[in-house]
Amino acid sequence: MKYMKKSFEGMVPYHSKLIEDGIILNANESPILPPDKVLKEIKDKITNVEFNRYPDMDEVKLNKAIAKKFNIKPENVSCGVGSDELLDITFRATLEVGDKVVGFTPSFSMYKVFAELVGATYIPVLGDENNLFNVDDMIKTIKENNPMLVIICSPNNPTGQYFTEAEVRRIIESTDALIALDLAYIDFASKDYSTIALEYDNVIVYRTFSKAMALPSIRVGYAISKKENIDMIDAIKAPYSVTTISQIIAEIAINNFDLYKGQIKMIVNEREKLYNALSKMGFNVFKSEANFIYVLMDDKYNEALLKEKIYIRNFKSGVYRITVGSPYENERLLEVLKNEI
Ligand SMILES: Cc1ncc(COP(=O)(O)O)c(C=O)c1O
Repeated sequence: MKYMKKSFEGMVPYHSKLIEDGIILNANESPILPPDKVLKEIKDKITNVEFNRYPDMDEVKLNKAIAKKFNIKPENVSCGVGSDELLDITFRATLEVGDKVVGFTPSFSMYKVFAELVGATYIPVLGDENNLFNVDDMIKTIKENNPMLVIICSPNNPTGQYFTEAEVRRIIESTDALIALDLAYIDFASKDYSTIALEYDNVIVYRTFSKAMALPSIRVGYAISKKENIDMIDAIKAPYSVTTISQIIAEIAINNFDLYKGQIKMIVNEREKLYNALSKMGFNVFKSEANFIYVLMDDKYNEALLKEKIYIRNFKSGVYRITVGSPYENERLLEVLKNEI
């Protein structure tokens, strides 16, 4: 890449091939569309969009709807093109070249990318021999390295580990560093503690419409934090980044959050069934509070799945993440794996 600056040498484009045929269990998406009432309302409202006008760059209605759901103020919310955009903005807004970022590893791969894009160093906190993370290790690493930014993903992608509110508070209270608390999968977990962001100066929570809300197609995420941190995000965010259509759809979805509860329950039930079935079959599986399961297994199983057009996420040889699908999809997956044992 002739024109790429030296410090970005070695960066490669991220491509994920669009799969249109088969059973897709590789991207932590919902196996089903949003609830019917949500879809109907979207169809009704979308026809009246003023396509000739720019979006509302302050996402007033959407921020208000999000604030209502969490019983907070709209000034404590900002939306972005997926939580990806908001995480990227945070890293760019807070880190100078040479600064340190501490995060559990393995975790969402973009954290390291965002850190390196601004010339910061990503310091991993590794799990124990069972890939379980320990909060004390995190606090010790923070003390030793004095990072500007600490990232916590709960439940963690890809291992599924959930950190309790008390554990997260212990990390927050151990440092003055900014804590980026990524709760992309929290709707599948025991408890949603998004609003703790408003109790501290140093916490930004990131949420997304891409997972439990079944809307990755519209690319909307949001941050929750004290006004000063929200202002920091808004100061850097590209104007009009969240499209009018996306704002309308996200607003309808969050206003109807209760209708999603059945879908979420179904996915959580399926996750537990899948976990039990995979454990029984002798695979090394990790307890998860998200909509996916981390599995260590021989690559031959993935080859068998691929033959049947069942796609799961492969990180490296022997390391996989399976998104929880519909009951039928999970049955098919288990059937293929069983035949391979
Ligand atoms: C932990 C985590 N955070 C953030 C994201 C980004 O989500 P989006 O940009 O779709 O909101 C993902 C996507 O998979 C994720 O797994």
